[in-house]
Amino acid sequence: MRLPALIAIAALAGTLVAAPAAAATSLAQLATAKGVDIGVALDPNRLGEAAYKTIADTEFNLVVPENAMKWDATEPTQGQFTFTAGDTVAAYAAQTGKELYGHTLVWHSQLPNWVSGLDATALRTAMLNHVTTVATHFKGKVGSWDVVNEAFSDNGDGSRRSSVFQTKLGDGYIADAFRAARAADPGAKLCINDYSIENIGAKSTAIYNLVRDFKAQGVPIDCVGFQAHLILGQVPGDMRANLQRFADLGVDVRVTELDIRMATPPDATKLAQQASDYRAVVTNCLAVTRCQGVTVWGVTDKYSWIPGVFPGQGAALLWDDNYAAKPAYQAVAEALGGTTTPPAPAGCEVTYSVASQWNNGFTAAITITNTGSTAWSGWTLGFAFAAGQTVGQAWNATSTQSGSAVTLRNASYNATVAPGGAVSLGFNGTHTGSNPAPAAFTANGTACA
Ligand code: G3I
Repeated sequence: MRLPALIAIAALAGTLVAAPAAAATSLAQLATAKGVDIGVALDPNRLGEAAYKTIADTEFNLVVPENAMKWDATEPTQGQFTFTAGDTVAAYAAQTGKELYGHTLVWHSQLPNWVSGLDATALRTAMLNHVTTVATHFKGKVGSWDVVNEAFSDNGDGSRRSSVFQTKLGDGYIADAFRAARAADPGAKLCINDYSIENIGAKSTAIYNLVRDFKAQGVPIDCVGFQAHLILGQVPGDMRANLQRFADLGVDVRVTELDIRMATPPDATKLAQQASDYRAVVTNCLAVTRCQGVTVWGVTDKYSWIPGVFPGQGAALLWDDNYAAKPAYQAVAEALGGTTTPPAPAGCEVTYSVASQWNNGFTAAITITNTGSTAWSGWTLGFAFAAGQTVGQAWNATSTQSGSAVTLRNASYNATVAPGGAVSLGFNGTHTGSNPAPAAFTANGTACA
């Protein structure tokens, strides 16, 4: 996507009308207004977790399956295709109105053992069959495919990775895979995707030369994915120029797997640096007209691949282990044109009951649920007593009252409420015979259900 909403509206209306300055409440709203994608790598097995699902539902306008469309997931046994997990992600994208990004058709990793046992002729047939079958299955659903992933060497010198495909099929396997993908799904954009190519260097230049050659030879290629698995404080200074030189070849570019890892545990200094790094990446993309957007490689630090692969490293995403939005979240929102103040609670729900009542006293029990997509780092519950009641001793909160207006604030130990999370509190009060429940509640100034 790279079509600002305002232009789309103006084109429809035939006139340029300024869009109302409605407050955006999610990264998705901000990105959509700018005509770019803000994506997330999705694990469909986590959608049963309310906080995970709420964030995925509301904060992103693109999803890519983190693992569900890979070779080991889709063709674990030769010729036997299983699309269950990939279909779940595709259905989720359709249900939630998000763009679906395909990852990935040809990759040396997460490759079933049977593939590496094939001779060159059989491997070529198997690769083309895999590309054709998977791309055909998701035809019309996937907007773009990572056709070939990580084809260049880790040593960064621009040489090809000595994968089974490279070793047995030679340089031409990449073009062959792209041609097969185009034939299977002519409507999908076809990308080459890799890491450590965010800067201008030997590895990115090798891919630059490949794209240039494909264009000259008529091999179908539409886009380049820059994974951007970055290290804290190391956003390349020439990233924007690098994206631009690829765009100048006539392909789209996008950041496909962004995370920014640090030595754990995180602290305020590291999180501030991370916020600055995220801001820089998003800003670099937005500065390049052909940059389609930025995808982060997971919802929450809790399930990130990083600690398992880089022991002692992690905290690389926008939400922490408890689904609290990190400073990087706010930085991304700001880079996308959002406000500079932390988002107010996007939703709240309150239950209020009188647990017991006597002569002129009562005990009230309250539960506040964060039904929004952003974690609260503190909360204030407001309501009014209509019949002269007063609030006295409170637990799990501190209480104040001014006239009929009661304010209950978090205690030090229950300030953080993750999306989907709830806090219970209560207080003793007085009444003068009548004790109706408050008619309405606010949390952090926002009306609650
Ligand atoms: O599904 C099995 C499960 O049945 C089993 O119990 C469990 C035990 O370890 O493993 C599960 O599979 C794991 C899979 O993720 C799903 O969780 C694999 O072991 C694990 O290796 C795999 O890791 C993925 C990794 O790619 C594989 O190389 C990560 O989740 C995924 O984030 C990562 O993503 C890659 C991109 O595709 C390409 N670019 C780099 C990026 C990070 O490595």
